[in-house]
Amino acid sequence: MAHLYDTIGVGYRALRRPDPRIAAAIVDALGPAASVVNVGAGAGSYEPAGRRVVAVEPSREMIRQRPAGAAPVVQASATALPFGAGAFDAALAVLTVHHWPDRAQGLAELRRVARDRVVILTWEPDAAPFWLIEDYFPELVAIDRTIFSTRDEMERDLGPVEWRPVPIPHDCVDGFLGAYWRRPHAYLDPAVRGAISTFSKIGDVEPGLARLRDDLENGTWTRRHGPLLTRSEVDLGYRLVVSPPPLPSGERAG
Ligand SMILES: C[S@@+](CC[C@H](N)C(=O)[O-])C[C@H]1O[C@@H](n2cnc3c(N)ncnc32)[C@H](O)[C@@H]1O
Repeated sequence: MAHLYDTIGVGYRALRRPDPRIAAAIVDALGPAASVVNVGAGAGSYEPAGRRVVAVEPSREMIRQRPAGAAPVVQASATALPFGAGAFDAALAVLTVHHWPDRAQGLAELRRVARDRVVILTWEPDAAPFWLIEDYFPELVAIDRTIFSTRDEMERDLGPVEWRPVPIPHDCVDGFLGAYWRRPHAYLDPAVRGAISTFSKIGDVEPGLARLRDDLENGTWTRRHGPLLTRSEVDLGYRLVVSPPPLPSGERAG
């Protein structure tokens, strides 16, 4: 079956490489899990080394971009995982839940197949929009608030969660929407935008891009956002969801 990412995913791997700092946070969240199912796995970013990993991905184009030697992949949807209950120690889902046709069903599936924990990288829909959205594409605020799950929704479907902020480094190598917060010219590049699904939701990007181009040329952007240029990382609302919340180190499950 044709899938959205069969179209928008072309060229994904060149610009959506795993960022080592985010990868370290994900590995930490996975804890001692020896087996991991990576759902909405795409081209294989953030699949941890040294563990038994199985990837799940519905898009043929994304599967095609998985490097040789990547974990074995099953073509399926998060909403119907072809595994038994508790088949893996952990289930991982990175920047994918907002694409699922039924988020509650997909989250229930992660919970079902994970013996121990579920780890999700997502975006907090109550977070303040960052400058790109606020100043140039405000129409995205309403869209993103409906497609990203709130903490309450996650807890309804997964049980209690820990909700960890993931600050985004100024030189983030994974080119998702917030990655270029300190490199504003990057958003003018069609290849950069092509690797960010959000832009496919905006009917006509040109008016917003024209304003950004003008503001960069005439100094308006620097006047408004110049202080960001001294920051090495910022919290843009990205969150690692860990369910159940791990026990504090030193405590053991009874
Ligand atoms: C932004 S990409 C993230 C890919 C990868 N996790 C990463 O971090 O690079 C979103 C992925 O979600 C996948 N996806 C969309 N709908 C899905 C579904 N129903 N079940 C599982 N994955 C889905 C897309 O095909 C795409 O590969």
